[in-house]
Amino acid sequence: SKGLIKVDPCRVVGTVDDKTYSGFLEHMGRCIYEGIVDYDCKVPGLTNDKGYRLDVAKALKDLEMPVVRYPGGNFVSSYHWMDGVGPKENRPRRPELAWLGEESNHFGTDEFMEWCEFIGTEPYLCLNMGTGTLDEALAWLEYCNSDRNTYYANLRRKNGHEKPYNVKYWSLGNEVWGPWQVGQMTAEDYSKTAFQWAKALKLLDPSIKLVACGCNGFSEWDYTVTQALISQIDYYSIHDYTSSSDYYKNVTCPAAAERAIQITSKLIDLAKITQKVPNRNVKICFDEWNVWDPDRAPGHLGAEEKYTLSDAIAVAAWGNLFIRQAPHVGMANIAQCVNVIAPVMTTGTDSFLQTIYHPFLLFCKYMRGESLNLHVEGPVYTGETGFSDHVDYMAWIKDIEPALMLLDVSATKKDGYINIAVANRSLDEDLTTSIVFEGDYQEIVTTYTVYHDDIAASNTIDNKEVVSIKEATCKFEDLKAYTFKKHSFVLLRVAI
Ligand code: AHR
Repeated sequence: SKGLIKVDPCRVVGTVDDKTYSGFLEHMGRCIYEGIVDYDCKVPGLTNDKGYRLDVAKALKDLEMPVVRYPGGNFVSSYHWMDGVGPKENRPRRPELAWLGEESNHFGTDEFMEWCEFIGTEPYLCLNMGTGTLDEALAWLEYCNSDRNTYYANLRRKNGHEKPYNVKYWSLGNEVWGPWQVGQMTAEDYSKTAFQWAKALKLLDPSIKLVACGCNGFSEWDYTVTQALISQIDYYSIHDYTSSSDYYKNVTCPAAAERAIQITSKLIDLAKITQKVPNRNVKICFDEWNVWDPDRAPGHLGAEEKYTLSDAIAVAAWGNLFIRQAPHVGMANIAQCVNVIAPVMTTGTDSFLQTIYHPFLLFCKYMRGESLNLHVEGPVYTGETGFSDHVDYMAWIKDIEPALMLLDVSATKKDGYINIAVANRSLDEDLTTSIVFEGDYQEIVTTYTVYHDDIAASNTIDNKEVVSIKEATCKFEDLKAYTFKKHSFVLLRVAI
């Protein structure tokens, strides 16, 4: 056989935080308007009385996302939350500086909170550290969370929301290091400002969890900011989008994100030691990740990626790395949820699930619980790897990771099942693999496969099921020599 996977349920490396399967919505392209809501919809039953797209809500509910981040992204760096509350006819229409669009402000804080309740998720708000002030951030926190007799809490009540929303997760700006960001800062300036914001926000509501703005996880910025903010924060955020028109690069470059998590976790450890807060619990919040090529799907045109089977395999590799790195990951947010670099796509009258939705759904449903440390053997890929075409700084990975396993594997243990996620990244070889277990198991194993002969296969509005999940069963015995088809993703559920 070509491969070996050894599974020992005792070898638990850590717990997969449910928040690993969180999402992200930005006022960008057709994400909010036409994606989450359609206030002009003429199709009966497609939206409810609040304008929510019910098909989108169902697709996202099925993912059981515990948290959704909002309202940006780059958008937030010139967003004033006060524009988006109160009677809609009084809300100002504004030019928008991140994607050079216009913002009607018809969907704002209260609409987002109601939508979160509708789909059963928790809100995570990103603060404007571009054109925004600390006063404005404190006012937003008071509006959302305060039950006192004070101005912004009363404004929320006046707007029809008696009870506080108790928003737990707040982030201190978005990609503040980036030259594209309104209000870009140096790491030193950001650290000073964010420290003071963190202090004040926690004075107003000590129950909140704060997320610091990190970069790629292995830069000067990350060193400086972890050192400066470690005593104030609960999460440290990093972002990465991978992609390549080359199949092998596309499916292997998520390895760079795995390295980034490992390095960031060490920067956090180092900061805890040098800043003398060894017991602080600070986890990584990977609050933007996905396959995205901004040349193929430019941001100012709404970043409407058309995902292929190859991208679905890359997303499976992303899922696997989050499981393997479970001890370090406190939250991860697929960017984004609908229309913009998204698993779900809409037209004015219909919607469909992109290829990437399917592996992501399998991870969301089954890859929870405890992460297991596996022993994996098999063929390796030694060509160029770990390189995102559009992000040159990712080129470093191929120097430190000269060979990558073609079988990319992770496993979890939950509710009497061992769940094994396997991406066979080989372009042309089915890999017959012997899966060896410690312990006793039930006879019937459930398998879920995402596969197509053509790595360029895509789903479209007219042909929605080109790539989907095929469910089957096999015998436990069959796992002694299980064939993973070339460029496929398989999730095996083995009952203990
Ligand atoms: O998700 C799209 C954009 O990518 C976000 O607005 C930004 O934070 C990142 O650069």
